[in-house]
Amino acid sequence: MARDEEKEAAGRAAAKLVRDGDVVGLGTGSTAYFAVVALGERVKAGLKMVGIPTSIKTGDLAREVGIRLITLDEHPEIDITIDGADEVDPKLNLIKGGGGALTREKVIATASRKMVVVADSSKVVAALGKFPLPVEVIAFARTVVENRIVSLGGAPKVRKKADGSFYLTDNGNQILDCSFGRIEDPAALARVLSDTPGIVEHGLFIGLAKLALVGKGDAVEELRA
Ligand code: A5P
Repeated sequence: MARDEEKEAAGRAAAKLVRDGDVVGLGTGSTAYFAVVALGERVKAGLKMVGIPTSIKTGDLAREVGIRLITLDEHPEIDITIDGADEVDPKLNLIKGGGGALTREKVIATASRKMVVVADSSKVVAALGKFPLPVEVIAFARTVVENRIVSLGGAPKVRKKADGSFYLTDNGNQILDCSFGRIEDPAALARVLSDTPGIVEHGLFIGLAKLALVGKGDAVEELRA
């Protein structure tokens, strides 16, 4: 499928940016997957690096492909993070969290000197908001947060698994997928959500990414903030 090829091309291009000695934030999702696999190949070929995963799933994959993992406590400063996105706008503001890992992803992106987004061409948008914004909430606060999101013009829907039970993040919290439609001022919405008690984190990543590698047909396009 063409989209998978674009994801793989972007992931592999990003893996080439890692240098000997780097501490690397390892993203989550089907595009970051290809970057982790490519990094595993480079490690086998002699690259010296350590990884900090953004999810349990990515940690498992990284171990499988031979990447040595460390914790954020051991190394709170990260050289480069490679991660996917659900939407990328022209300023490289992002919606993330389709895979549910947004909180750890944002902690790691914020602790990184450089965050590189990897994506297929379908992720590039003129304005954020078509993709429902994931918001991680503590279960205790879900209803008040839902009401707050409705008052902000969003339509929240709690994420569930196929068997009807609540989807839980690696941190044990629930996710509200919030349809806002076109978000005119992502930074303003991000601030309001960050100020709402009960919200652990939201999937608006404002000003964190400076480079996006986007697979487009046979090529990989570089977008810069
Ligand atoms: C994981 O929580 C997400 O933020 C992913 O990075 C995002 O959903 C992109 O995933 P794909 O590369 O699978 O589209």
